[in-house]
Amino acid sequence: MTLLEQLEIKHPIFLAPMAGVSTPELAAEVSNQGGFGSLGLGASSVEAARQQILETQALTHQPFQVNFFCHQTLELDHDVAKQWIQYLAPQFKKYDAVPPTELKCIYPSFLDHDDYLNLVLETRPKAVSFHFGIPHPHQIQALKQAGIITMVSATNLAEALEIEAAGIDVIIAQGIEAGGHRGIFNETFDSAVKTSDLVQLLKQSCRLPIVAAGGIMNGQQAQLLIKLGAAAVQLGTAFVQCKSSNANAAYRKALFSKPITQISTSISGRPARGLINHWHTQIDRPERPAVATYPYCYDLGKQLNAAATAQGDYGFGAFWAGTNVAQIREIEAPDLINQLVLEMSQA
Ligand SMILES: Cc1cc2nc3c(=O)[nH]c(=O)nc-3n(C[C@H](O)[C@H](O)[C@H](O)COP(=O)(O)O)c2cc1C
Repeated sequence: MTLLEQLEIKHPIFLAPMAGVSTPELAAEVSNQGGFGSLGLGASSVEAARQQILETQALTHQPFQVNFFCHQTLELDHDVAKQWIQYLAPQFKKYDAVPPTELKCIYPSFLDHDDYLNLVLETRPKAVSFHFGIPHPHQIQALKQAGIITMVSATNLAEALEIEAAGIDVIIAQGIEAGGHRGIFNETFDSAVKTSDLVQLLKQSCRLPIVAAGGIMNGQQAQLLIKLGAAAVQLGTAFVQCKSSNANAAYRKALFSKPITQISTSISGRPARGLINHWHTQIDRPERPAVATYPYCYDLGKQLNAAATAQGDYGFGAFWAGTNVAQIREIEAPDLINQLVLEMSQA
């Protein structure tokens, strides 16, 4: 059975799950047009996640996927956190704000408990994908028994082989061009393989279907990756500008006016690619100390952004975008799917 048959979708085009940007409307628009819609639920509480899944199910009868984070929840190093807060304190001062004295673990991992798993088993989306790691064996087993397709991001061959050995169904090959967080299992090591190389590498050594993600903005780029062996492509940045996404006005404006990206660990504590802003120019400086652990670091990053935004400065936003953001178009999701399909057929 092909991946499209397995997922019961018409086109090999996935909307990337995007925590904070995904909406039920956007997911449904993509699925209703024959693509594979998604919800990024890694930053949502179990209740908020349930709400989004139910809303999506009310908007489409077509299949879609949900996505969670599988990071190892690390202990916070309090000395590192203190130094990190001190380093960012002058930035808070600029906006007449005071940084917190303690940082919170704002996102639990799917690995920490089975509440998200139980939600997935209860609501039965077609597929569930994971970023930053692989679920526990008992969680994979339960999803399999329920007939829910499992997918995990890989950024290198070692991760892909681990995914395959764990009994997952699909590999999302995330290249270095990708917008948002790198899906690397271990946040300190990144082989930074580009999407086309990663697809070819995984195609040679893995038997699972591969979905290519990273830097895809048009059908020509998508078709090239399909020719290299990808069973489908996953696009994030290209959909952020859609009216139905949750991106705020400053993010939308920056996508079209400052389309240059850089990877930084300062915003959340894990490497993530976004549009160049204050994080890259004012925080990522040679004197920068070690960042606080993910996701504690993100707690501070979000608070700094809130303080700056309150004073009308949007330069500390987490404006995730892929390297090819300069090629995005202003187009609604159903039209983007149609356009991609047309370009792929002509490529
Ligand atoms: C705004 C944004 C948020 C993202 N959030 C998630 C997420 O919650 N989970 C996930 O697995 N990937 C996330 N990603 C990464 C995407 O899955 C995908 O790898 C990436 O969008 C592909 O690169 P592109 O943006 O150049 O298309 C995000 C990407 C963006 C742009």
